[in-house]
Amino acid sequence: MQEWPVRKPRPYKKRIQLTEPLITGQRVIDTFFPIAKGGTAAIPGGFGTGKTVTLQQFAKWCDADIVIYIGCGERGNEMAEALSEFPELEDPRTGMKLIHRSVFIANVSNLPVNAREASIYTGVTIGEYFRDQGYHVALMADSTSRWAEALRNIAGLLEEIPVERGFPAYLGERIGKFYERAGRVVTLGSEHRVGSLSILGAVSPPGGDFSEPVTSLTSRFVGTLWALDTELAYKRHFPAINWLKSFSRYIDLVREFWFKIDKEWFDLRLEAMKILEEASEIEHIARMVGEKALPEEQRLILLAAEIIREAFLIQNAFHEVDTYCLPEKQVRMLRVIVEFYRLAKRLVESKVPIDLIRELPFIKRGHIYNMRFEPGLEFVDWVAKEMRRQLSELAKKYEVEL
Ligand SMILES: Nc1ncnc2c1ncn2[C@@H]1O[C@H](COP(=O)(O)OP(=O)(O)O)[C@@H](O)[C@H]1O
Ligand SMILES: [Mg+2]
Repeated sequence: MQEWPVRKPRPYKKRIQLTEPLITGQRVIDTFFPIAKGGTAAIPGGFGTGKTVTLQQFAKWCDADIVIYIGCGERGNEMAEALSEFPELEDPRTGMKLIHRSVFIANVSNLPVNAREASIYTGVTIGEYFRDQGYHVALMADSTSRWAEALRNIAGLLEEIPVERGFPAYLGERIGKFYERAGRVVTLGSEHRVGSLSILGAVSPPGGDFSEPVTSLTSRFVGTLWALDTELAYKRHFPAINWLKSFSRYIDLVREFWFKIDKEWFDLRLEAMKILEEASEIEHIARMVGEKALPEEQRLILLAAEIIREAFLIQNAFHEVDTYCLPEKQVRMLRVIVEFYRLAKRLVESKVPIDLIRELPFIKRGHIYNMRFEPGLEFVDWVAKEMRRQLSELAKKYEVEL
């Protein structure tokens, strides 16, 4: 048996640089807003935007050795479902049942508030305990807002002077100290043993207002922010991660990992991001003048952005294949889409009408949108081939060099 005061971080020899991504199998995260092993991330979002589903997706599919899942002040039935589902699910990497690598801390909404406060620290301490044995540990906390509310309650009972929205003055410090316990370290036990603890916390801002204290303080301390968007969730674009409001500070650290899969990963990612950003500006104009009135180049950007959204960013957690996407497949899908844009741009610049491009079977019949539902890489490669063939046929008709 080990005893340790949970509010005190367990010691280590030294902190070392983070070097590899925590792969989650979720495309919008791994490709656009990655988290490193030993890093921190927060997923803020209003009610029903997908915090719990996303965290449970991480718990199932992320490539950590050990997963700690803290249900903190949220609905008990969700926790019960997870507890009954995990013994059935298999870890795709080891073939073992997922439950064998998982620790659940159930501290659901009807339990005492003080216990809620302790559950976060208990989780992080168990995480450090496995880290010290040289494992890569990933901790998910749903939701850190309930923990902050518990702090507020306790502070109220102690008659401490509240600051913003009733929270005590030390809220920021507590949140910071919690996320600081993440990291990649050389362990105390051996010079040669390296372990990591990644911390991923849900934040539940009342009314989806991101300027409230817990969300704004948390954003300051984390390396990655996945901002969930009520409007996207309403349109059933899941995961409802807003690509304009989210960020990752780990891009440079994970580049090498992706470089081994595709030398162009960084450029593909950047180009796709640029298309999405430009499209959001063009959409404003399109709403006033109508899509058809836009210059052809801009209409192409809208089409490319639509394909990025529907074929890549959207990912159905409940679809047998789509629920998890290998890094190799992510890059290859992204490559098809960006390559499509590059080729189509040359056509459009040579006066090929965008409406003809849109009518090509690989788009019209949905092949490019179905890449995510087909297992393996064969179908993606087939779509890539078809896309190139159909575009070059069109190029020939218009006597354009592709
Ligand atoms: N990746 C996803 N794929 C499919 N559906 C999703 C996904 N994420 C969220 N949803 C849908 O959104 C609903 C609400 O998600 P949930 O995680 O419970 O929200 P929150 O925890 O933020 O209140 C889910 O029941 C599900 O129908
Ligand atoms: Mg939830």
